[in-house]
Amino acid sequence: MSTAVLENKPNVPEVIPTYTATLIIRRFDPDVDTEPRWQDFDVEVFGTDRILDALHKIKWEQDGSLTFRRSCAHGICGSDAMRINGRNRLACKTLIKDLDISKPIYVEAIKGLPLEKDLIVDMEPFFESYRQINPFLMASSGTKDGKERKQSPVERARFDDTTKCILCAACTSSCPVFWTDGQYFGPAAIVNAHRFIFDSRDEGAQVRLDILNDKEGVWRCRTTFNCSEACPRGIQVTQAIAEVKQAIMRGQA
Ligand code: SF4
Ligand code: FES
Repeated sequence: MSTAVLENKPNVPEVIPTYTATLIIRRFDPDVDTEPRWQDFDVEVFGTDRILDALHKIKWEQDGSLTFRRSCAHGICGSDAMRINGRNRLACKTLIKDLDISKPIYVEAIKGLPLEKDLIVDMEPFFESYRQINPFLMASSGTKDGKERKQSPVERARFDDTTKCILCAACTSSCPVFWTDGQYFGPAAIVNAHRFIFDSRDEGAQVRLDILNDKEGVWRCRTTFNCSEACPRGIQVTQAIAEVKQAIMRGQA
């Protein structure tokens, strides 16, 4: 273990320890490779570093061809979902020190979507499902007084959890049904349908319930809870799917 010295910085320790982590990354370059291959990288990281920081260091200092998506680096944009030690996580929210650093850390692209390059998959099938559930407020008429659409705190609470979705695809790409059947809408689309189905201001609940009552809709869910475990926003994804199923059986939201 080595150290880095920070001078004249208030409120931070003077010395931040560093250590070497080994990342084994599943690489794929469609111009060269016929199959993905694993490649090892040793990288010196701080105790405060996340997997995203390690990927940046590898890209900037060792191999500029390493390809991955990221934007906000703070768990908001949803662009850096990947499999880290076999579990879907956001690279920017995964502290390296929280993993077992005595062993190599395996990093690969999320499953179930076409692999494009290294850690990047084609997200189009994911967003196509999202678009199909009409992820916007459907309201044909204006309000009586022409002002805002009012909603009580209790009404708002009904769909509060599902408003937190950042469309990272960690849930959908952890779902074994989605892996085996690319037609299934997937948890993320259902979560975003839930967000509007249970919104008292929306008038399109039945349209969405009919869409999700399809053979590729909510009934494909096998309640494995992979989605809830994978969600970096802590959304109770399986519960949201169950609530949509119940609304379909009741015939109303
Ligand atoms: S429900 Fe969670 S895991 Fe699924 S896309 Fe939204 S934020 Fe990501
Ligand atoms: S980079 Fe935006 S969520 Fe991780």
